[in-house]
Amino acid sequence: MACASCHNPDRAFTDGKPTSVGFKGRVGQRNAPTIFNALYNKKQFWDGRAETLEDQAAFPITNPSEMGQPSLDAAVATIAAIPEYQQAFQQVFNQPPSALNMVRAIASYERTLVSFDSPFDHFIAGDPNAINDAAKRGWTLFNTRGRCNRCHASVNQDATYFTDFRFHNIGIGILRHQVTPLALQAMKEIEKGDLPNVDRAAIQSDFSVLGRFLLTRKEADIASFKTPSLRNVLVTAPYFHDGSMETLWDAMDHYNKGDGVKDPWLDDDMQPLALTEDEIDALVEFLASLTSAEYKEFGIKELARQRTLSRISRSQRDTARAFGPKPLQPKAPDLLHDALLESRTLRELVCCAALIIFERTGRAIRSPAVETTTSHAGKSIGHSWVFGLNETLDPTGATVGPLDSWNSPEAVSFRKP
Ligand code: HEC
Ligand code: HEC
Repeated sequence: MACASCHNPDRAFTDGKPTSVGFKGRVGQRNAPTIFNALYNKKQFWDGRAETLEDQAAFPITNPSEMGQPSLDAAVATIAAIPEYQQAFQQVFNQPPSALNMVRAIASYERTLVSFDSPFDHFIAGDPNAINDAAKRGWTLFNTRGRCNRCHASVNQDATYFTDFRFHNIGIGILRHQVTPLALQAMKEIEKGDLPNVDRAAIQSDFSVLGRFLLTRKEADIASFKTPSLRNVLVTAPYFHDGSMETLWDAMDHYNKGDGVKDPWLDDDMQPLALTEDEIDALVEFLASLTSAEYKEFGIKELARQRTLSRISRSQRDTARAFGPKPLQPKAPDLLHDALLESRTLRELVCCAALIIFERTGRAIRSPAVETTTSHAGKSIGHSWVFGLNETLDPTGATVGPLDSWNSPEAVSFRKP
């Protein structure tokens, strides 16, 4: 396996598969994004679990479903056995190959992979004939009724990156999974901050659908994923983090109905758009105009392929919902909410309490909590805190409980089993 097995330069550094196939034919859970312009990403991966390209490169090398190396050092040993690499590393780093140098070399190469120069760039730079009328209408819709710019652009219609570099739940994969039990299970099985485990879960397990939540454990991050850039999107099908949609028409149908029935965490900016067929075609034309010059030929073929497919199947289309009212959002399950509160550390709780008081009274608290020590059978077993928040701590700092007896009735008790 090479990086290029899944990030093939001929396909704008993607693999054309719904989800990637790695070491020993193992099928992953996520779609391979393009590496083009990855140097501009604020975070890497669909869930942002790597901060830099150097950090990112280490993950696929050791992931058992991707390149399957037992360790980074094992990969280095393989490279170091090749005289050309020995020489090259010596020349560039003045050192033999090492894990650090290897990921630096990979990341440096990735920083050369920029891709702009699409017909749209010529249009926005002032050439009115660079894109057709449909694409122009698509660009207008993108910034108005389509609401795309809410996430795929920043203020002032900045047409550089086509992403806000943030994470949103737009309802992809939700219906196929039981998200709440998965989230509860993930909280038990994956330690917060254990990135190698998060990486495996994201690539190899059903936890994948939980998205950024796997990292942050914030309810708002459930099934949220990074807004991808839309540059070269025509030639990087299939779409979304799970590769679940085959054509840009499917993607537009998804947005048009404002998906998210049964999705309590759906982003507020997702709602029925009431786009006509002509307007959907215009949006697709606009997206096609973001294809860089080097993929022009491929783009023409791909647009024809997708158009043919879209005439056979529009599995995401739901015209009634697209033209109907926004469906009532289901409430997030209490079960998960409670579990998340319980899993918070004392420090997080005190900050949270301080914030609530600040919001309600407009006053910052100098002493964030009033603490009383509690004894049980002559032994100091904990501290309780005011503002209705209680946590029991033993002197070693581990939480103990339950100790309902000394929680006042209105107090919320946060305890770990
Ligand atoms: C088996 C297929 C596979 C291999 C091999 C592979 N990748 Fe990936 N790559 C993926 C998938 C799938 C993702 C998305 C995973 C995720 O976000 O959870 C990804 C994500 C990335 C990203 C993040 C891009 C973004 O927009 O967030 C970068 C950068 C990247 N890979 C570079 C590499 C490099 C460098 C190598 C070689 C060291 C490599 N990949 C090897 C499949 C692969
Ligand atoms: C609420 C924020 C938001 C809005 C509004 C939004 N997007 Fe997205 N878009 C995202 C996110 C987040 C993803 C990735 C989601 C996932 O894979 O789970 C995405 C993915 C996509 C993809 C798939 C890209 C790929 O590489 O797989 C396309 C195409 C797309 N959006 C186009 C649009 C268009 C066109 C509009 C307007 C009709 C739009 N988006 C509106 C946030 C948004």
